[in-house]
Amino acid sequence: MCGIVGYTGNQSAAPLLLEGLKKLEYRGYDSAGIAVTEDHSIHISKVTGRIANLCEKTEDGRLTPGTTGIGHTRWATHGAPTEPNAHPHASNDGRFAVVHNGIIENYVELRQELTREGYRFESETDTEVIVHLVEMYYAGDFKKAVMKASNRLRGSYAMGIVCADEPERIFVVREASPLILGVGIGENYFASDVTAMVAYTRNVIYLEDGEFAELTPDFIRIYDCSGREISKPVSRITWDIQAAEKGGYEHFMLKEIMEQPRAAKATITPRIQGGEVVLEGLELDLTDIQKIMITACGSAYYAGCAGKYTIEKLCHLPVQTELASELRYSDPLVDEHTLLIVLSQSGETADTIAAMKECRSRGAKILAIVNVVGSTIAKLADCTLYTWAGPEIAVATTKGYTTQLLVLYLFALYVAKRRNTLEPGQYRRLIGELKGLPKLMQQALDMNPRIPRLAKKYHKAQSMFFIGRNTDYAVALEGALKMKEISYIHAESYAAGELKHGTIALIQEKQPVIALCCNPSVTDKTMSNIVEVKARGAEVLAVAERGNQKIVSLADDMIYVPKVDTLLAACVEIIPLQLLAYYVARENGCDIDKPKNLAKSVTVE
Ligand code: M6R
Repeated sequence: MCGIVGYTGNQSAAPLLLEGLKKLEYRGYDSAGIAVTEDHSIHISKVTGRIANLCEKTEDGRLTPGTTGIGHTRWATHGAPTEPNAHPHASNDGRFAVVHNGIIENYVELRQELTREGYRFESETDTEVIVHLVEMYYAGDFKKAVMKASNRLRGSYAMGIVCADEPERIFVVREASPLILGVGIGENYFASDVTAMVAYTRNVIYLEDGEFAELTPDFIRIYDCSGREISKPVSRITWDIQAAEKGGYEHFMLKEIMEQPRAAKATITPRIQGGEVVLEGLELDLTDIQKIMITACGSAYYAGCAGKYTIEKLCHLPVQTELASELRYSDPLVDEHTLLIVLSQSGETADTIAAMKECRSRGAKILAIVNVVGSTIAKLADCTLYTWAGPEIAVATTKGYTTQLLVLYLFALYVAKRRNTLEPGQYRRLIGELKGLPKLMQQALDMNPRIPRLAKKYHKAQSMFFIGRNTDYAVALEGALKMKEISYIHAESYAAGELKHGTIALIQEKQPVIALCCNPSVTDKTMSNIVEVKARGAEVLAVAERGNQKIVSLADDMIYVPKVDTLLAACVEIIPLQLLAYYVARENGCDIDKPKNLAKSVTVE
C-alpha cells in the first residue's frame, strides 16, 4: 500500500524523506519518489523498485537540495509500476507536485474534463488529476487552489502538495485515508503512518476526514473543509518504533484484520457506478460460457467455495470448485465453454499457476482475481480483476480472503445482469447491500469485545470442530484453517449434517465446537446438530446474527455478527473467526505473523 511523508524545516529535506520512506517499506511498494522545493522550482526524483535505488539516484538526497519536500512509496493500482506512474506527480507548468494515498473514484471524468481544458497527462494514475486541478484553480492563492481541487475529488485521499512559488509551505488534505502531522521545533512533518517520523518527533496531530493543514517550518495551521482554522490537540507517541511500524498493532495480522472495512471499500466503491456493477478489466466474451470452474489454494480456495453459492444462485450457472493442486492432475473436463476463475492473493502460487496452464491448454477462458498487481497469475490470465486490499504482510490471509469474496460477489451481480437471471429489483437491492458491506464488516469488528476473553477459555483445547451448513460450511472451512495455521490447534471443519456419519464419535466432554448459524435457511438443522453434540458433552460456541434468541438458549457462548443477506454474508461472518484465531494464538504465545513452516507466497508445487 502507498505511503507518504513530508518535511519542512531548516535541514536538508531529501535525506529525511528517504529515511521516512524506508520506514514505510514494510507496507509493500513497487516504486518511490521525492519532490523537493528550492529557489522557486521543484526537483523531482523517481525510481521503480526499492528505496535503495532512489538513494542511489539522488546520492542519498545530496542531488536534491532544499529544505521542504514530499515523498511517496507506491503500490501500483491504477497503472503499472513504472517511473511515469510513480509519485510525486507534477503540474504541467512545473509549479506544483503532489503525493497521494488512496483512490480517486471520479478520476476518469476529471481526466476527461482536464484533457478538454488542455492539460497533458504523463501517467495512467488516478492521482495525476489532483495536481492538474490545483494548477487549474491557482490564481495566486495556494490554499484556495488546494481547497477548490479537493472539493472536486471523490474517493479516499491523504495527500501532500508543494508549490514552487511558496517553497517552504506544504498543504496536506485528508479524506478516508490516514494522515498524521508531526510537530517539531523549527520544523514540521507529515506522514501516512507515524513510523515515518517517529524517529524525529513524538508529538503528533491526527487529522480527521475533511480536514486539511498548512505546514511551514514555524507553524502548523489546521482547517475544516470550509477553510475555517480549527485547533486540535497534540498527542504524544509512546510506542516503540517497532510497534509503530505495525501502525500501533501488536501484529500485522491484527492490523490487517482491522483494515478490512477500508480494503472492502477500496475494492467495491470504484466498481459500482450509477447503481451498476462496472468491471473494468473484464474484457471476456461470456455469452457462450456453460460452466464456471474456480480453482485456488488454501484460503483463496475457501473464498471460491463461499463464492460458488452466490454465483450459482444469481447467475444460474453451474460452478465447480477444485483445489489447484488437485485440478492439474485430474484430467479436468474443461473446454472453450468453461470460464476458469483463479483466486490468489500473491499471484505467485505455483500450484495455481500450473492448474491455470492445464486448463488453458484445454481451451478454458481464464479470469484471475489477484491482489498483487503485475504478478505472474495476473499476467497469465486472459483478464484480471484486482482485489484492492493493499499489501498483506501476515502469512495468514485475512483482508486478502475477504476482498476475494467481494470481487466474486461483484462478478456474480455483473454476470447475472448480463444473463438476465436476476429481477431488476433484486439486482438493485443486492447492489445496495454490497455497498453497505464495509460498514457491516466494521460492525462485525466492533460488536464482539468478548472475543479475547473467549480465547482465554478455549486456547488450551487440543482440537476444535467448526461446523455449519451451506454458506456457513464454506465459512467454517476458512475459520478452521485460520485457527490451525496460527494457533497450531488441530481444527476440523465439517458440514454439520455429516457429523453423525462418523465424526461425532470424536465428541467428548468439553470438546469445543464452533457452530456457524448465520444462514437462516439452515439454522434450524444446525441447531439440531448443536443439540446432538451438546448431548455428548461438547462446549458450543455459536456464531449467529445479532438477536437470534433461539441459539442463545442452546450454546455455551455466543459470537454475534450483523444481519447480512446470506449470499453476501461470508465476508462478514469470517471476521469474528479471524479474531478468535488471532486471540487464541496470542494466548498460546505463537509467532502469529510468521507461523512455523508456512510462507506468504508458496512458489513451489
Ligand atoms: O497467494 P495465494 O492466495 O495464492 O495463496 C494461497 C494459499 O497459500 C494461502 O491462502 C494460504 O492458505 C494462507 N496461509 C492462508 O492464510
